[in-house]
Amino acid sequence: MSLIDQIIARAKSNRQRIVLPESFEERTITAADRALADGLADIILIGNREKVLAYAASLGLKHIDKATIIDPVTSEKTAAYAQLLFELRQKKGMTLELAQKTVLDPLYFGCLIIKSGDADGQISGALSTTGETLRPALQIIKCAPGITCVSGAMLMITKTPQYGENGVLVIGDVAVTPAPDAQQLAQIAVCTAQTARSVACFDDPRVAMLSFSTKGSAKHEVVDKVVEATALAKELDPALKIDGELQADAALVPSVGKKKAPGSEIAGNANVLVFPNLEVGNIAYKLIQRLGEADAIGPILQGIARPVNDLSRGCSVDDVYKMIAMDAK
Ligand code: ACO
Repeated sequence: MSLIDQIIARAKSNRQRIVLPESFEERTITAADRALADGLADIILIGNREKVLAYAASLGLKHIDKATIIDPVTSEKTAAYAQLLFELRQKKGMTLELAQKTVLDPLYFGCLIIKSGDADGQISGALSTTGETLRPALQIIKCAPGITCVSGAMLMITKTPQYGENGVLVIGDVAVTPAPDAQQLAQIAVCTAQTARSVACFDDPRVAMLSFSTKGSAKHEVVDKVVEATALAKELDPALKIDGELQADAALVPSVGKKKAPGSEIAGNANVLVFPNLEVGNIAYKLIQRLGEADAIGPILQGIARPVNDLSRGCSVDDVYKMIAMDAK
């Protein structure tokens, strides 16, 4: 069974309640229809019920009436969600009046449904930017216990089975934190290894902390940051298999790893790659995807208390469907 088939099977047997706030977006509602038909998840759509059903009918979709459809304008829960938003954000200057307006935004409404325990996860981004998707999640759902830095991992399913886990690599951060400090980078490493375990089903995540230097071959403060982050990650999770700083070839290619980092159990053998900052991570995943014709699944938001995930605005129906499956980890 392929990795994605395993993820889909797990989602069907561990059915989650997933909010899709962009109900009037064609790829999203089409993926919702497929998810409902397949029993992949319980779907919650945000919007006026008649309008959502009419939109679905105009696209020829047949299963949307199985979704829960909630209209923030008329829902009996809206006042309670506004009050919750006000309480969560009043120290940041949120007034009750502003909360009553903000709650009508489907992206905020969805996060408040999750915060109240009435749903398990949310997926958006086919229409909204990454910032628009992430901000309500960061403000309302917040970080998982022990974590202060949310990040995003990508599952790269490559055509090179000699690397990673039979060609699969889990890489991060590709989506959230532009300039992590050493402490944040350490958290990104620990979270990316957890995602490798929980989403990509890796039994033995082996983390390479990437740099342009291997084991002191270059001296620079940005290299020092990677070395410090590697030590901090070991403190955060003493059982974690991790090494750095390593160049990408030393991390992946056994002969190069042996030469550049002799004795390392990770060099030449890594299946989780952690980038020193978001510029590198985001550029690298898109290059692997396009030049290497790899499948990129994600980004999977990690370090957040509940799954909220961001789609690319260039996503396909299939991408949305896979993301729904991935939220049931
Ligand atoms: N981890 C945890 N909390 C965070 C993080 C983080 N990485 N970043 C911000 N926050 C918190 C802040 O502490 C703040 O909380 P508070 O209001 O309770 O104090 C809240 O989130 C909002 O913070 P802001 O500073 O208002 O938000 P900001 O404008 O910094 O936006 C964002 C945060 C959206 C994540 C920003 O850093 C960003 O745009 N990152 C890049 C996203 C991106 O464009 N990615 C590339 C595309 S994705 C792709 O290609 C796969």
